[in-house]
Amino acid sequence: MKQFVTFVLAAAAFVHAQDTGTSSLQPLVNIGYVVFPSFEALDVFGPLDPLNMLSMTVPLNLSIIAGSLDPVNTRPVSMATPSFFGESIVPSHTFADPPKNLDVLIVPGGLGTRAPIEQLQPAIDFIKTQYPDLKYLISVCTGATLLARAGVLDGRRATSNKAAWAFVKSTGPNVEWVPQARWVVDGNIWTTSGVAAGIDGIFAWIGHVWGEDTSLRIANLIEYERHTDPSWDPFAIIWNTTGTASAPAASAKLLPVIEI
Ligand SMILES: *[C@@H]1O[C@H](CO)[C@@H](O)[C@H](O)[C@H]1NC(C)=O
Ligand SMILES: *[C@@H]1O[C@H](CO)[C@@H](O)[C@H](O)[C@H]1NC(C)=O
Repeated sequence: MKQFVTFVLAAAAFVHAQDTGTSSLQPLVNIGYVVFPSFEALDVFGPLDPLNMLSMTVPLNLSIIAGSLDPVNTRPVSMATPSFFGESIVPSHTFADPPKNLDVLIVPGGLGTRAPIEQLQPAIDFIKTQYPDLKYLISVCTGATLLARAGVLDGRRATSNKAAWAFVKSTGPNVEWVPQARWVVDGNIWTTSGVAAGIDGIFAWIGHVWGEDTSLRIANLIEYERHTDPSWDPFAIIWNTTGTASAPAASAKLLPVIEI
């Protein structure tokens, strides 16, 4: 424990020493994360970890926002599995009583985005209501389908999980879906591809707001090797979202029918 605290303090001091210049120019403070049952764990905790690191030296307030204050679990509710396997996050706010003055809203994906529309409507309405006042709206994986259904992606370029491409497109007929991209930026909306892509997306976003040095330093602290090219996307070929795959990818055939 002592070692961990020393590490964290050293890390914070290190980040702080070189960042005060850029961060003071960016008064983004209030970050909200939407959660719903059967959210994808990494869609939430992947981007949150670098943000946790950032918050050690830059003032950030995090709100976890859901339909109620009950813990929200990752366990699939819409499909039978042989397991009791999942973990919960505890919301700090509800859609009906949200935090004031959100600057940034982040929306994860996961199996829960396939829930019946009436279960998702409060989250969709919340995104729609908040968007005009946000400085940034960010989605990870199939979280983009909630943005699409809120109408905020209409006429814009966006991406999402390539393994769920048909479902993704069906939720936003007026969206210009980009079939090959690690992440896409259109105005103040950042959409990232499947699950792990959210980590590259958040690092790019941190770089955009607080400077590339800050982003790289946090990536080095967590020993994460970033993909920094937003068009890097081998999964577009694996899932044939570009329509250019000549042979079925072996890895695609081996994957189970679970879709996220
Ligand atoms: C951040 O949260 C703290 C603690 O609740 C609060 O005092 C502060 O006003 C918040 N900052 C902003 C900008 O809302
Ligand atoms: C990829 O999609 C294109 C266009 O839909 C189709 O013609 C082609 O057969 C697909 N490739 C594979 C390997 O399924």
